[in-house]
Amino acid sequence: MPDTLGVGIIGMHMGAGHLRQISNVRGLKLAAICDLDEDLIRGIQEEFDIPFATTKYEELCAHDIPFATTKYEELCAHEDVDLVSVAAPDYLHLEMAEAAFASGKHVMMEKPLARTVDECQAMIDAQRAAGTKLMTAHVARFYSHFQKIKSWTEDGTLGEVYNLYTSYIHNYEQIPGFNEWRFDPERRHQLIGGGCHALDLARWIGGEVAEVSCYSNHFNIPVLQTDDHFNINLKFESGAVGIVVGSFGCAHPYNIDLHVWGTRGSVIATNTTPTARVCLRQIDRHKWLEMPAGAAPKGLAAEFQVLADAIRNDTVPESDGVSGARTVALGWAAIESSREGRPIEPKVDF
Ligand SMILES: NC(=O)c1ccc[n+]([C@@H]2O[C@H](COP(=O)([O-])OP(=O)(O)OC[C@H]3O[C@@H](n4cnc5c(N)ncnc54)[C@H](O)[C@@H]3O)[C@@H](O)[C@H]2O)c1
Repeated sequence: MPDTLGVGIIGMHMGAGHLRQISNVRGLKLAAICDLDEDLIRGIQEEFDIPFATTKYEELCAHDIPFATTKYEELCAHEDVDLVSVAAPDYLHLEMAEAAFASGKHVMMEKPLARTVDECQAMIDAQRAAGTKLMTAHVARFYSHFQKIKSWTEDGTLGEVYNLYTSYIHNYEQIPGFNEWRFDPERRHQLIGGGCHALDLARWIGGEVAEVSCYSNHFNIPVLQTDDHFNINLKFESGAVGIVVGSFGCAHPYNIDLHVWGTRGSVIATNTTPTARVCLRQIDRHKWLEMPAGAAPKGLAAEFQVLADAIRNDTVPESDGVSGARTVALGWAAIESSREGRPIEPKVDF
């Protein structure tokens, strides 16, 4: 294995965020970027001084210079690319992952892993056949204050977790893709595409979910063909319970919340502030303490570091393909519960 792995990034909107962090990750370097939008590519090429592969392609490769292309198949097949980072729209995740695995590459897949449970299974099958690594980019797991909360659930600070609340609240009316792929239920369901942040945090803290019960409604975005608000009740295998809210048309600032109740203490945090509020029985059971959780969140660099280390050490990365698939399955179980008016057991075997 080379000392430094080459990263090829597909989709240069969210992917530009990946690009900005690659140089902060030990063992990774930029090898290639790809987008259909040549203007977007040109802007990034100017900012980062990246050549364009359509001219003197072989010459560029011979000099180990990162290149840009509009063809993702070219990026996936290229020998300088060891790790493909897919930051294209959700409906393209499976075909891009299959192209990467067919060329024996590792994959960092933006959340959600794929649109459906069947697509997740197909992606995992392709990864197993390739024998390479697949990680789901659930970046919220890598925010420093959320990581601190996770450590407090593991080191006993909060005691046994018996309840949690997570939310993903994001008004979608003004973001790119409005009325386009993000609003086409064939290409993206809001609860899977966006709500997966909160669903995944719930699984990360609470463990696997035994049963889901969901109510949803549709008051805010008339052109949306699915419901735009979901209240999801979870019963975890551990006996803990939880509530996940996914809301996509509300008059409310964007935020992701993580609240955890344990037998020794409770904590509430949101991704838009770097601190958490903690209440511990042994200190004062009626009072919140403001807890700085360390440096500002560096989620993207941290998640790429996890995958780089997993490739290097041949270990399973945090938030691997199976975990990403379970989060998608949990979302679909909630949607099914809301449609059918009964509790559903989410699929966990992949
Ligand atoms: N982790 C996060 O918080 C976060 C935030 C935003 C988006 N995302 C995820 O990133 C992915 C992309 O979202 P986005 O907001 O950047 O979407 P977007 O629609 O704004 O941008 C997608 C980009 O992909 C390019 N593209 C489309 N088809 C392509 C193809 N065949 N080959 C190459 N490039 C192609 C488009 O030209 C565009 O530049 C989604 O899966 C989304 O869920 C994650």
